[in-house]
Amino acid sequence: MNMDETKLYSWFLGPKAENADMLERLVLEALRDCVFWRRNFHPEDDIIITEKVKREDAFQDSQALVRQEFLALLANLKRDIPFYSPRYIGHMLGDQLLPAIAAYFAAMLHNPNNVTLEASPITTRYEMEVARQLAGLMGYSGETWGHITSGGTLANFEALWVARNLKYFPIAARDAARALALEELPATLPAGETINLVTADDNWPLLNFDTDEALNLRSRLYTAYARRRSDLPQAEIKKQVDRLLTAYGISGKGIQRFFSELGDEKVAAPLALVPATAHYSMQKVIEALGLGKEQIKMIPVDGHFRTDVGALREILLRCADERRPILALVSVLGSTEEGAVDQIHRLVELQAEMRKQGLAFYHHCDAAWGGYIRTLFFDEQGRAVKTPSAIREITQTWPSDEVFQSFSAVHHADSVTIDPHKLGYVPYSCGAIVFRREEVKELITTEAPYIFDGEERRDRPFIGRHILEGSKPGAAAAACWFAHRVVPLNQSGYGLLIGASIRSAQELYYRLGQELAPELAREGIILRILTWPPDTNIFCFVVNRAGNKSLTEMNRINPFLREMYIGLGCALENLMVAARGRGYEPRLVLFPSGGKQSLVARVELKPGGAAEVQHYRAIGERHTNRSAYDRARDLAPAIIETFNKQALSRNATLLSFSAGASEGKIFAEGTIEATAGYIAEPKLLKDSHHWFRYSLEEVNEKRDGLSVIGLGMPEWQTRVALSLPESWLGDFGKKWLEATENGDG
Ligand SMILES: Cc1ncc(COP(=O)(O)O)c(C=O)c1O
Repeated sequence: MNMDETKLYSWFLGPKAENADMLERLVLEALRDCVFWRRNFHPEDDIIITEKVKREDAFQDSQALVRQEFLALLANLKRDIPFYSPRYIGHMLGDQLLPAIAAYFAAMLHNPNNVTLEASPITTRYEMEVARQLAGLMGYSGETWGHITSGGTLANFEALWVARNLKYFPIAARDAARALALEELPATLPAGETINLVTADDNWPLLNFDTDEALNLRSRLYTAYARRRSDLPQAEIKKQVDRLLTAYGISGKGIQRFFSELGDEKVAAPLALVPATAHYSMQKVIEALGLGKEQIKMIPVDGHFRTDVGALREILLRCADERRPILALVSVLGSTEEGAVDQIHRLVELQAEMRKQGLAFYHHCDAAWGGYIRTLFFDEQGRAVKTPSAIREITQTWPSDEVFQSFSAVHHADSVTIDPHKLGYVPYSCGAIVFRREEVKELITTEAPYIFDGEERRDRPFIGRHILEGSKPGAAAAACWFAHRVVPLNQSGYGLLIGASIRSAQELYYRLGQELAPELAREGIILRILTWPPDTNIFCFVVNRAGNKSLTEMNRINPFLREMYIGLGCALENLMVAARGRGYEPRLVLFPSGGKQSLVARVELKPGGAAEVQHYRAIGERHTNRSAYDRARDLAPAIIETFNKQALSRNATLLSFSAGASEGKIFAEGTIEATAGYIAEPKLLKDSHHWFRYSLEEVNEKRDGLSVIGLGMPEWQTRVALSLPESWLGDFGKKWLEATENGDG
């Protein structure tokens, strides 16, 4: 890591909350600021929650309830998933940027609603700015449109919603032009031929307009109608044209009426083309848009999990042949499971080739994952980099030339999904959609007369009119906007961060592919990296037994091996510690017997110097008396102190709380709940029972596991229990739960 990269460490709270002081300061600052804001807003207003009210029992009881329940909430939240930990690198989710958390908190105190500028005068502007930044990040210029969504699913929905309405828009424009008694409405077909829409009776060319040409039709209609009706004011012209476009369009008629009135047997049902690796949101979207799953054509992917361009070409040719309109082609920049990047440049070329044959379609790129990776494509001054080598200075071998070209061609897509709550490291919910052309807004507009009416609506940003969602958190916009202020959308900001993540993927590949895989191969275990080199910062590998061809068996092996190695790892660690404590110099040999899988490791002992090894005594002599709790007596501070000194590792924290306090109660309830859950699992209970030693002979012989001696019963009971046959002691699980509930276990 170069010195510049140390700033990465300031951007996160840290796996051990190393930057807690910073976050605390910012959160407190925000809270105090909000408090002063409230106090200084019309200071002459009466105090409503008086000190006297605060002394009432009902008030006190209510606040006590809040405090107590809050502790319970906090305790429950600790059972959440520690995504911040480097131990979770196997998961695509990471931590959130510290500045984004602070900004979210600050804005949340104001609770702005980004449905309209009226309800969020500050954060709606942030949202619009973020949308412009993300459009720029995708390489778009000019008048674009975009906004924050609840996530990638919603963003994909809007893109396909626009694509569906746009596909049938030229037909609506033709019918509107006829209704307005226009004589001419010129348009250019993708292959270059010019037609008059008013007289165009064949629907097929109208279902194959280029996106830009279809989007230009609305303003062309305004102009043509204004020429015919020069007596009408411009606003009236637009109103009449808009009304007819809706009335003749699919959004006005609805799918069933639209198609039955179209009544064109020469045009087949439309298709959305999505790669087989596409996110499952696509299927939801298609269905929610009133189409069926039959209208989704899955394009096969190649060995890199990318859209197979050859297969796509064949599908497109077949569609042209069958006169089957394409609602949209979806490409993926960073597939959900594999991080694969479609060859966007080749898809764009194919689109151009098809256009010449009269087959045109909308292109949506789902870059929910990969969108922010484009920050590596801009230098510190925000200039687009021209060659992959300018990126490889940060990311070593990434990107391949192919991946560089793919990322560089994104601006050809008509819309792009980008999720700030993924590689933007912004808290949920914060997805985004950007469109290449601003005019798409009008295709999905819905007026809300209760908010604005008439001319007023044109001048005031009212996001809710053009999107699927209504009320939405301004806090998410503030978090994203602020994250972009602190972490620039180029190689000095997100690029640096994502670059480090890509390098980690390379490092992990090396460790797994070059170091571990050969070792495992000697044991007849195959570790195969499936996506190398990775297109993004994700890669996949699989573990299998040599010769196994069954997928079920392979899926079974993977969790088994993971558990086996973790469990064995702990036992080996203990063995090494104990050996050193006994004055040996241990040498660990993994898989010493070559092909014999049952022998995983050998520890060779040579005489060594007697070293004082921390924890050695604890391993050899540990004795856990799990039941001798005297709940009436608090632990002496000296004992707590001794315990605390035992926490020698930076990774361990000792928490102490008294049994009667609310934390103690939460702990007790949680323990009982966990025990009940445990004994309800027959397999777990059997395995646990397996480690229980009943008789003295067993204790002496095995010298491991738990025993009756450690249960903390009075001495006479322990003696009796040791001499009784196991079956006399009753149901093991039930006894365990009872002991736990009584506070003895
Ligand atoms: C490629 C892709 N698209 C869309 C989505 C959906 O995003 P969200 O879960 O934010 O709705 C995901 C989520 O994993 C994704 O990976």
